[in-house]
Amino acid sequence: MLDLRRQYDGIREDVLSAIARVCDSQSFILGPEVEALERDITALTGAACAVGCASGTEALWLALVAAAVKPGDSVITTAFSFFASASAIVRAGATPVFVDVDPGTLNLDAALVVRQIKTKRPDNLRAILPVHLYGQCADMDAFDRIVQENAKENAEEYSHEFGVAIIEDAAQAIGAEWNGRGAGSLGITAAFSFYPTKNLSAYGDAGIVTTTRPEMAEHMRQLRNHGSPRRYYHDEFGWNGRMDAIQAAVLRVKLAHIADWNERRLQHAATYDQLFASSGLTSGRTSNQTSNQLTAPVRLLSRSPQAKHVFHQYVIRAQRRDELRKFLAERKIGSEVYYPLPLHLQPVFSYLGLKPGDLPVSEQAAREVLALPMFPELTEAEIRWVVESIADFYA
Ligand SMILES: Cc1ncc(COP(=O)(O)O)c(C=O)c1O
Repeated sequence: MLDLRRQYDGIREDVLSAIARVCDSQSFILGPEVEALERDITALTGAACAVGCASGTEALWLALVAAAVKPGDSVITTAFSFFASASAIVRAGATPVFVDVDPGTLNLDAALVVRQIKTKRPDNLRAILPVHLYGQCADMDAFDRIVQENAKENAEEYSHEFGVAIIEDAAQAIGAEWNGRGAGSLGITAAFSFYPTKNLSAYGDAGIVTTTRPEMAEHMRQLRNHGSPRRYYHDEFGWNGRMDAIQAAVLRVKLAHIADWNERRLQHAATYDQLFASSGLTSGRTSNQTSNQLTAPVRLLSRSPQAKHVFHQYVIRAQRRDELRKFLAERKIGSEVYYPLPLHLQPVFSYLGLKPGDLPVSEQAAREVLALPMFPELTEAEIRWVVESIADFYA
């Protein structure tokens, strides 16, 4: 599924000397390594500022609080994501409002967000939090339009200049683009994860939050350090959300490779696409073409023409998904289900009152999605073996 050792073998000397540099400096938390990483991420994403922190989850919380999300507010987000996309909203004191996903991309469906706002506007709607799922940006043009229209219609309701904020969960999307603009520069704030399986990954937990607003970056620098503008003086309740210097040093080594690694992921995705098309398993159709839905054993997800996808995951929709997964495991082919239970059906969110059938696209996706092996060092022979094995299963 993911063999990190192959990556390590190629960068071992550089990583070890970066770690040695931190040990020699005896400066272990924040400091010059983290500041250098923040500058590099700013350059990569096109955001105005970046603030290094302890994890992607922490980055989401910082992004929400800096965008003025507070207790009593509502935040619209997708029902089909990792738990942290929603739990960070709760940690900020707000209520997540789950909306279904687009059946082609599985990203938050902007048309359904509009319908939610028009028919059942959540109380104190403060933000929309789209997730760039699997490394492909959500429809940011549509979300921009929603914000603009909303600002016009509800001008008097907002004391804050931006009304409803767009906050990107870019945890899976480092290096991704929408209309040539980097993920992380598309919303007011954006959260990235450097969890070890991510396209750009640390040797432990780490994350970063980017913003187009320098004043929000200043606020987040305080929040990640106990709300403290100056040592032992506290203006508000923050937390220990700081980044380790060793993680920043490792990430800076890897950052030099990220464009090449993402390019290789794109090539692998093209190889998968082509092999699936010639296998007859998909008939080359995508999952939003309903004529194909009942017949093809495997369906591919849609690609937005505006998006540069970075294929954090290569995900198919498969009939008899769980049996297929077992079959692949017997051949020692790794696969994973992101995600088996949509957020609105997680027991911890039962207080929101949603039930099975309420968000059917997410629920169906949870039954069908399967992520296949995807990492830069994967070989074409391995990809062929995966697709041949899938064909064997359905034969
Ligand atoms: C979409 C999404 N959001 C948030 C996170 C949380 O990131 P982390 O694990 O670094 O806290 C992750 C990663 O696990 C993720 O995939």
